[in-house]
Amino acid sequence: MKAILLLGGFGTRLRPLTGDIPKQMLPVCGRPMIEWVCEHLARHGVSQVVLSLGYRAEAFTAAYPRGRIGQLAYEVAVEPEPRGTAGAVRFAAEATGIDSPFLVLNGDVLTDLDIGALVSCHAEMGTEATIALQPVDDPTPYGLVVTDPSGRVLSFSEKPEPGALPRPGPRSDRPTINAGTYVLTPAVLDRIPADRAVSIEREVFTRLAADGMLAGSVSDSYWLDTGTPQQYLAANLDLLEGRRPRARVVDSGDVLDADIDPDACVRTSVIGSGSEIGSGAVVQRSVLGQGCRIEAGAVVCDTALGAGVTVGAAAILTEYSVVGSGEYVVPGARLRAVRQPAA
Ligand code: GDD
Ligand code: MG
Repeated sequence: MKAILLLGGFGTRLRPLTGDIPKQMLPVCGRPMIEWVCEHLARHGVSQVVLSLGYRAEAFTAAYPRGRIGQLAYEVAVEPEPRGTAGAVRFAAEATGIDSPFLVLNGDVLTDLDIGALVSCHAEMGTEATIALQPVDDPTPYGLVVTDPSGRVLSFSEKPEPGALPRPGPRSDRPTINAGTYVLTPAVLDRIPADRAVSIEREVFTRLAADGMLAGSVSDSYWLDTGTPQQYLAANLDLLEGRRPRARVVDSGDVLDADIDPDACVRTSVIGSGSEIGSGAVVQRSVLGQGCRIEAGAVVCDTALGAGVTVGAAAILTEYSVVGSGEYVVPGARLRAVRQPAA
């Protein structure tokens, strides 16, 4: 089965980290996010992916010039302008001649979802499309999906207002959201208007649900959308601290190959190779790209730094601060981002 990976978004919520690099090429424990996604697909028997690209498309092809990402062979479909999540699927399917059921994945989701189980569920339900569902506490940053007991989707509401949430049912189960992995039949492609931006969540899924042609399959495996600074940090720290047991940080030497002063304090962080951390500096629950320099007495907590960032002496960066590649934070500066919502 082929898989289309949606990778063409602008990564707006992760700016300025995504100012020069697409979200799915950001490192997660030293490896581009897309490699973790492709590794998961290969583990579940997918052998061919289509990279659905737009923003900074060349970053992907330059990083993998031999047409493979790990074990997976890839083709590319580069949109002339952003087509939205459904327009991108139609464009990629036409560009690569897809004519049998296929997978679609949001390329910024890290998950251990059992893809074989999703495909089996799709075959049993006989719908035009089946989406993986994830239980969450707060569905408002996602696509809220309500199903009947058989798994047929009754409604799909993208980023619902808190006031529009259904009351918890008698079993008080957590609400389920669109986990960003779908099995689609080619019939879905005919529902997507050509040559304009179309949202799969706001247009296609709502109509499929109204026609009784959309199924959902709930799973509660590891799942994380990496779209905000908080979530990007969590993607790294979950691996580091073993909260994602099915994926391992393979070689910690790649992750921690830095010059750390004996008087510095570095805890629960991913330090890019070639970085320098000065005396009395504190780095905690943070991700530093390659070649960062943290000067004496600086504090970097819950913060993501791109490659080659210098943090001047005694500067204090906290609460989901994000600094783009090559930037210089002046000595003594205080950066503190407003706390981010979940997505
Ligand atoms: N090729 C292409 N073209 N890709 C796109 C485009 C486009 O025009 N727009 C977005 N994408 C890609 C993004 O790069 C990302 O990998 C994926 O599509 C989803 O876009 P996001 O911007 O990350 O969406 P979201 O996180 O707000 O919401 C989506 O994901 C949630 C789960 O993670 C929705 O699908 C929600 O319904 C879902 O719950
Ligand atoms: Mg996302």
